[in-house]
Amino acid sequence: MSRPSGDAAPGARLIDGRGLADRIVAEVRAGVEDGRRRTGSVPGLAVVLVGGNPASHIYVEAKLRKAREAGIDTFEHRFDDIDEAGLLRLIERLNRDRRVSGILVQLPLPPHVDRRRVLSAVSPDKDADGFHPENQGRLFTDAPGVVPCTPRGCLDLIRREVPSLEGLDAAVVGASSIVGRPMAALLLNQGCTVSVGHKASRDLPALTRRADVLVVAAGQPGLVRRDWVKPGAVVVDVGISRVTDPVLGSRIVGDVAFDEVREVAGAITPVPGGVGPMTVAMLMANTLDLFLGAAGERGAAALLCQG
Ligand code: GUN
Repeated sequence: MSRPSGDAAPGARLIDGRGLADRIVAEVRAGVEDGRRRTGSVPGLAVVLVGGNPASHIYVEAKLRKAREAGIDTFEHRFDDIDEAGLLRLIERLNRDRRVSGILVQLPLPPHVDRRRVLSAVSPDKDADGFHPENQGRLFTDAPGVVPCTPRGCLDLIRREVPSLEGLDAAVVGASSIVGRPMAALLLNQGCTVSVGHKASRDLPALTRRADVLVVAAGQPGLVRRDWVKPGAVVVDVGISRVTDPVLGSRIVGDVAFDEVREVAGAITPVPGGVGPMTVAMLMANTLDLFLGAAGERGAAALLCQG
């Protein structure tokens, strides 16, 4: 993979997630406007947030701001606390509300709420996050469905570097149901040979060193070092942690030791400005897809599939 001229730093090309996310949101906005002209309505995104997790509040603000920028109607439901029955009643109401095309329940939920029960209560046809078991099953059987936003965003970034993934070795570090597992399924559906490393893996570097495509979503700042990475690999860093360094002060870093790994990788996402903006952009894309699906439009089939 060649570097564009003008990039003075040695090693990897920087993958501009922010720039691509801006273009996707502009496309969604055009799709929303087109839908409005034809159907007289626009997509609506309902966001449910329970509790005071500061990171969740920041993420939800970013999602709502971007939805408005894309011309999507927003419906906010914030609770300091709510019991599970109350949350399930709210979701039932949102499932029936014709103005709502997509529902997002921000995670984590408080411990007294059963996350599986809540996510399963969201109609699969309004499942903006792709967390409903039906959509997860579709992904795992390579059938069209709603794909979780972060993995969908990562795949888009990867495919801009490597248009055909068929036959490549891929490694995913982290086996969460939000990122690692769906990411592995997406890469498998693209024809990759996929390894998934996790907390109990005996030799993570042995997995990652084989990978032409490496996605890291472990939640451990700086976990992946230079000698973990195959020269020329495409490295996608989903991690986002705030660390305090005596010299550099407080800053946001990923799961990849960026300064080292960029010397060997072929292409790498920065943190911030890589996967984060793509997650939000893909939420907008999912919401538009769900709206078009609900409006019975053919275009939705193409948008709803995983590529
Ligand atoms: N919490 C962390 N990531 C996500 C996400 O992608 N969606 C939701 N709903 N909650 C999250």
